[in-house]
Amino acid sequence: MQSKIDQYTEEIKAFTAAKADELEVFRIKFLGTKGLIKDLFEEFKTVGPEEKRTFGKVLNQFKQFAEGRYNEIKESLGSGPQVKESDIDLTLPGDGFEVGSRHPLSLVRNEIIDIFKRLGFVVAEGPEIEDDWHNFSALNFPQEHPARDMQDTFFIRKGDGTDDIALRTHTSSVQVRMMENGKPPFRAIMPGRVYRNEAISARAHCFFHQVEGLYVDENVSFSDLKQTLYHFVQELYGEGTKVRFRPSYFPFTEPSAEMDISCTICKGSGCNMCKYSGWVEILGCGMVDPNVLENCGIDSKKYTGFAFGMGIERITNLKYVIRDLRLFSENDVRFLKQFTTDII
Ligand code: PHE
Repeated sequence: MQSKIDQYTEEIKAFTAAKADELEVFRIKFLGTKGLIKDLFEEFKTVGPEEKRTFGKVLNQFKQFAEGRYNEIKESLGSGPQVKESDIDLTLPGDGFEVGSRHPLSLVRNEIIDIFKRLGFVVAEGPEIEDDWHNFSALNFPQEHPARDMQDTFFIRKGDGTDDIALRTHTSSVQVRMMENGKPPFRAIMPGRVYRNEAISARAHCFFHQVEGLYVDENVSFSDLKQTLYHFVQELYGEGTKVRFRPSYFPFTEPSAEMDISCTICKGSGCNMCKYSGWVEILGCGMVDPNVLENCGIDSKKYTGFAFGMGIERITNLKYVIRDLRLFSENDVRFLKQFTTDII
């Protein structure tokens, strides 16, 4: 028995393992349920009392030694996969990985925000579910006024049968909230999702995204509006993009205008996008109606302001020539991945 123990001890001392499966062979050989140590204990049962006294302690010490060595090697191997240095070939090509992309509407929204931030505008947000006051009444839409029909509204009927809650139809509601809760001057833009009850097609959707803007201070004039929007267009679509203002109507601005830019696709020579007119409309704007200022608790004798609002989808179409609005909300990876290069 002693000679076996000596022999095994030598073997265990000399043992090293570079991989976990080598260590496992060692474990099975010595420490397994049918291993050599188990055999020694079986043999121990058969020896006489004299030898029992001598070997009891020796055998237990040997077992502890074998277990200790096993644990030591196991620890040195760690738990991760074992790779020999010679197995690594640094000249092999790496595994490619998919780069995520930003949604085109987010890209364009961020670009718009950046331009206005550089002009000192801050970003304001508000709720998508609005009450009649913030979406309509405060903005000078009288009850039963046909102007309310300009924006096909999704009303939310409450338990008591009234429906003065709606999905906001524009982010002008955020302008009202801002003016009600603060003091002029205001210089802010309001990006956000808005909802209108329209049949879904390539040209219309039941929701879209807007960036509206508001500038209220003493002595703000229509020329400030024109200069700000002109600068915005040069930044977004490049120097030399022409602008023109056409008179229009919004209940909350007076005077009101729509702004066209020279077609970004054909540069004004006429194409499908601009219906061969050379011009495309990109936003509505105007001087904030004094009634709106008063509704929000602002002295309209002291303060004036301008406001504007644009659809991000439209601005994006004119940048990337996307002809079907539905692409923006279908989450088709083949579409979305085309914007990968713009990731920052
Ligand atoms: N709120 C208008 C719309 O959604 C846009 C607009 C904003 C027009 C501000 C003029 C001034 O159509």
